[in-house]
Amino acid sequence: MKYGFFDDAACEYVITTPKTPLPWINYLGNKEFFSLISNTCGGYTFYKDAKLLRLTRYRYNNVPYDNNGKYFYIKDTTDSANETIWNPGWQPVKTALDKYECRHGLGYSTFTSSKNDVEAKVLTFVPMNDNCEISKVTITNNKATSAKLSLFSYVEWCLWNADDDMKNFQRNLSTGEVEVTDGGSTIYHKTEYRERRNHYAIYSVNSKVDGFDTSRDAFLGAYNGPDSPDAVAVGKCTNSVASGWSPIASQQINLELAAGESKTFIFILGYIENPEDDKWEAPSVVNKKPALKMISSYNNEAAVDAALAELKAYWKELLSNYHISSSNEKVDRMVNIWNQYQCMVTFNMSRSASYYESGIGRGMGFRDSCQDLLGFVHLIPDRARQRIIDIASTQFQDGSAYHQYQPLTKKGNSDIGSGFNDDPLWLIAGTSAYVRETGDLSILKEMVPFDNDMSVAKTLMGHLKCSFDFTATHKGPHGLPLIGRADWNDCLNLNCFSEHPGESFQTFGPSEGPVAESVFIAGMFVKYGEEYAQLAELLGDTAEAERARAEVKKVYEATTTAGWDGEWFVRAYDANSNKVGSKECEEGQIYIEPQGFCVLAGIGVEEGLAEKALKSVEEKLDTKYGIMILQPAYTKYHLELGEVSSYPPGYKENAGIFCHNNPWVSIAETVLGHGNRAFDIYKKTCPAYVEEFSEIHATEPYVYSQMVAGRDAKFHGQGKNSWLTGTAAWTFVNISQYILGVYPTHNGLSINPCVPEDFGDFTLTRKYRGATYNISVKQNGAQKGIKKLTVNGKEISGNIIPYEEGVKEYTVVAEMG
Ligand code: BGC
Ligand code: NOJ
Repeated sequence: MKYGFFDDAACEYVITTPKTPLPWINYLGNKEFFSLISNTCGGYTFYKDAKLLRLTRYRYNNVPYDNNGKYFYIKDTTDSANETIWNPGWQPVKTALDKYECRHGLGYSTFTSSKNDVEAKVLTFVPMNDNCEISKVTITNNKATSAKLSLFSYVEWCLWNADDDMKNFQRNLSTGEVEVTDGGSTIYHKTEYRERRNHYAIYSVNSKVDGFDTSRDAFLGAYNGPDSPDAVAVGKCTNSVASGWSPIASQQINLELAAGESKTFIFILGYIENPEDDKWEAPSVVNKKPALKMISSYNNEAAVDAALAELKAYWKELLSNYHISSSNEKVDRMVNIWNQYQCMVTFNMSRSASYYESGIGRGMGFRDSCQDLLGFVHLIPDRARQRIIDIASTQFQDGSAYHQYQPLTKKGNSDIGSGFNDDPLWLIAGTSAYVRETGDLSILKEMVPFDNDMSVAKTLMGHLKCSFDFTATHKGPHGLPLIGRADWNDCLNLNCFSEHPGESFQTFGPSEGPVAESVFIAGMFVKYGEEYAQLAELLGDTAEAERARAEVKKVYEATTTAGWDGEWFVRAYDANSNKVGSKECEEGQIYIEPQGFCVLAGIGVEEGLAEKALKSVEEKLDTKYGIMILQPAYTKYHLELGEVSSYPPGYKENAGIFCHNNPWVSIAETVLGHGNRAFDIYKKTCPAYVEEFSEIHATEPYVYSQMVAGRDAKFHGQGKNSWLTGTAAWTFVNISQYILGVYPTHNGLSINPCVPEDFGDFTLTRKYRGATYNISVKQNGAQKGIKKLTVNGKEISGNIIPYEEGVKEYTVVAEMG
């Protein structure tokens, strides 16, 4: 069952009922100012950092689920015997609407609703070059007679630090401050501006208003929620000026619309910073100059339409970096629109702010952000470059790294610290992807601090060497890399032994000392060790490349011996040197991660192990909704394994379908040339395919979720934790570089598709290093293999189109077979 449809021409998903199984959200904002917005107008806004600079409040864990947003209320008093109050997004009043449509587009959302022949159209977006969210609200009277209406706006301010805001009431209920100007048209939220803050927020409308409120209690009434505000019921705001308690911004505009008449209002929710020495225009009166400038930039429809056009043009240009036309519309829509869009969102947010990540916990993840780069780097390489430097700056001198950092301060998060032993290698992965995409070797020579301390800086290449050496020098009894607190699988806590509630599974117990080893990190070391060696070669350091390859060889050998279980790769060795993910185990006999990653790294391909490992995955882990992370699920808590065995069977890391590592297996299948199987795996978790059973899947059908409940779970097939997942980047890597087969190498684009035999011919545009490649692939029913490759009319040998400085257009014809 579906709750909407894709409108590919508009690059939108159209939701046709507000009653989706879960809130279906969108992200607004591209650089520093962001909003989350659900299909019922729920959500919140922040500047740069969802924890530290939160503009509006959200209520977590609430009933109903999606509570608090930026709401508009329409009160229709035309027929005094039948007055109605409703919202264009249905919530929070939930008056049944005669018409409802929400369109989530690229960086904007629109709502078109009507009730009793009054139509409201709300367009909301964050413009490219300002720190604000614009809402254009158009009310149309479709009645045969004139209509008497009032429009009320509503946003609830967060007192900036979202964590403190929901805990520290003894202080916060006394600190709230606002200013109101123009009779209420502009409301300034200036809590804490007097002392340590140089920023305030505004909520403004480009019209005279008939009233306003800035005290939540005054607007809602002390016993009401946003579903039944007193002021709206009475039809009159109280012109309250908040002092402490909970400041809000609400404006009231009364309207008398003739039959067929429309009126449009523009609301701006903005973030303003002032220089320290220019904070005030008079004692206690904030300097409003920058706010007035922002307001005047968008005070008319033409300006707003131009800003939206600019946003759309920006996305059109970005998405043109990789564009496919095939006979499969689902692939085209994911590749050309939604998968790339989600890659941008994960790049911006890491795992910080979604409907499942509160924005107050984890900031940017070291491993997460490095992987996000893999799907983002072709979009805006300059931003990827900066991100790599930021991430590397949180590394320690021994190569280990803070597991997370806060985006505002860019400082490592000492609560969680380091000791996740896969982290260092992801830095090589992200950097290598950047250099392959851009050819920019200068980044490797950039001086980068350790733990943000410039006095101990090294070049980025020096950092990569630390990453490489960290793994090379932290090996256990089987010659496999030590796992530390955990590797990619945060829940495999082999050195932790947590027995009491409240002890963090990850950080309880030592990270150094115990000998638990990870076959997954071994796979990473083989893959990214080789990529490190290639970077060393590019810098002319062949000795380092040779040394690296010799180290890689040792780990390769350990993986195919101690890391091999007969039919598949072992997952790990625990602190007692017992196998994890082996036929010897009672539960958790096979894990997905080493099968996918070792094979995609090329391990065991020649020895025939790879083929066996992937067969085992298919036999033991596959389901119709995707490949499970392990089997059999853990039914009891294993102290020596940690959090993985804490989840009920079928959920999360305990035998859930962790979407992130499904593409690893799909890529692994392409390494072996299995186009049919690779694509079959791709389809199982692909949103455009999943859309058909949205009532089971529950999360948004236009983006990936982190997890789908596995076969052991009660709700097999149900998605959880949509949006912020490494699945976005890895799936884009899989479909764009391995299945469709356009892979950036240091020397040029490689063309080597691996598709199902009935995929058909396709054409593809890829922008790369300033040139445009128009690639046409003739499939000839083959799953893999290029028999002829012509570039600008000339046949070339091999798969790589040599990159030639100055050539701006490449016409490429690839014949498979
Ligand atoms: C969750 C994992 C998550 C980890 C993040 C754990 O509590 O179960 O899914 O990856 O925290 O550090
Ligand atoms: C989500 C985390 O953000 C990611 O870092 C981790 O790899 C996966 N969970 C698997 O545990």
